[in-house]
Amino acid sequence: MSDTRKLYVRSFGCQMNVYDAQRMTDTLAKEGYVETDSPDDADLVILNTCHIREKAAEKVYSELGRLKKAQEEAGRRQMVAVAGCVAQAEGGEILKRARGVDLVVGPQSYHKLPELLADAARRGHNRRAGIVETEFPVEDKFDFLPPPTPAAIAKRGPTAFVTVQEGCDKFCTFCVVPYTRGAEVSRPLAKILDEVIRLAEAGVREVTLIGQNVNAYHGADAAGRTANLPELVRRIAEVPGIARVRYTTSHPRDMDDELIAAHRELPALMPYLHLPVQSGSNRVLAAMNRKHDRELFFDIVARVRAARPDIAFSSDFIVGFPGETEADFTETMDLVERVGFASAFSFKYSPRPGTPAAGMGEQVPEAAKSERIHALQALLDRQKAAFDAACRGRRFDILLEKPGRFPGQLIGRSPYLQSVVVEAPLEAIGTLAEVEVREVSTKSLSGDICGGEFFGERPARESRFIGQGEKLEA
Ligand code: 5AD
Ligand code: SF4
Repeated sequence: MSDTRKLYVRSFGCQMNVYDAQRMTDTLAKEGYVETDSPDDADLVILNTCHIREKAAEKVYSELGRLKKAQEEAGRRQMVAVAGCVAQAEGGEILKRARGVDLVVGPQSYHKLPELLADAARRGHNRRAGIVETEFPVEDKFDFLPPPTPAAIAKRGPTAFVTVQEGCDKFCTFCVVPYTRGAEVSRPLAKILDEVIRLAEAGVREVTLIGQNVNAYHGADAAGRTANLPELVRRIAEVPGIARVRYTTSHPRDMDDELIAAHRELPALMPYLHLPVQSGSNRVLAAMNRKHDRELFFDIVARVRAARPDIAFSSDFIVGFPGETEADFTETMDLVERVGFASAFSFKYSPRPGTPAAGMGEQVPEAAKSERIHALQALLDRQKAAFDAACRGRRFDILLEKPGRFPGQLIGRSPYLQSVVVEAPLEAIGTLAEVEVREVSTKSLSGDICGGEFFGERPARESRFIGQGEKLEA
């Protein structure tokens, strides 16, 4: 198709949605769609939704209402598609609850977007009845989703997400993921490597491997065997141009010896691990069907720290799970105190339709949930502030990613994903700089460049990262 149409994609929720949004954009670029930053300007708006908590899911309806109103006020007609996990979970219900939706499309059907949109457009001319596509088709969507062009990769900067695994077989009793994203599926090793090579050739330096249960990765390799995550990371670290590898999100049960050893052996694997624990109470962990207890979590943290002393941890927590008592919550606070996190996400339990926990008795009152989340977040904020403060005066490799707020400034990321502001020219974007951290604020660090790929030979000074373990002993 030769006519140019404008596309606006808004993603809610997790990093997989960010990745999916890019793949949808790449698919539609072939159909003549170009991206715009403004929904009001777009011929097609895609809301890429999240169903993990009620608040996230409700956002789609307020956004749909806002779009409808803006369309009516401007007297213009846009195509509107709802994608992502709300689409998968609620399907045709969305058409009943919100007017003006042309297409509801689940995450396994994004490769069919061009035909679905053409179909929806044809219908739109006759009657306003939306299309719903939430099947889990037999074909692998990744075989049909086109790769981004080198120009698109360059525009997205030197870091990229790559989905390596999708879905989850763990069935934690609070979680919708096994229902919205389906059973665990891993992409074949060769296809992931091809994608990473293409990204690296276009200038990407850091790859984050993503999956709902990424450390359970078990993709087929060329010899017909199964490759695990440590092997995948090793192969990706060897791709010319790739300097850093990360992976997220992991389950404690799948942190095996080989993966822990990879943290010791592969300098490209960043010393920062997001490892959701959810609760510090064994009673609650059992009711959540987490398949691990607090002792296993402590053991993993100790083993990972022994392998890579500079590692820092982040995690996810849920407070107010059905039946959680004050004593259970105290166990969570105790776990946080003992481990020490560089950063973390914490949530009030939100009952999700169709999950076992939604039907459990002993739902915790809202007031208790609020009190507990405030206490937990205050502790986690203190730990984050202490971790950031301990970075002052240290030297890190920073990957310079984009221009800063003021001319002459660039923003990069530390190994621990902290934003770091430095004075450097635009040409240094995409390079690793050695930076001494000078100032620390709640939002970012700032520092001085001492050397690096763009700036020439580094001074022969010892550079070392700090891990949370060191900070706690200090
Ligand atoms: N309520 C609150 N938080 C949830 N999470 C997942 N499901 C729920 C729920 N029903 C949180 C978990 C998970 C993160 C992605 O979202 O902490 O790790
Ligand atoms: Fe959800 Fe548990 Fe699977 Fe994570 S491991 S996606 S929390 S069911």
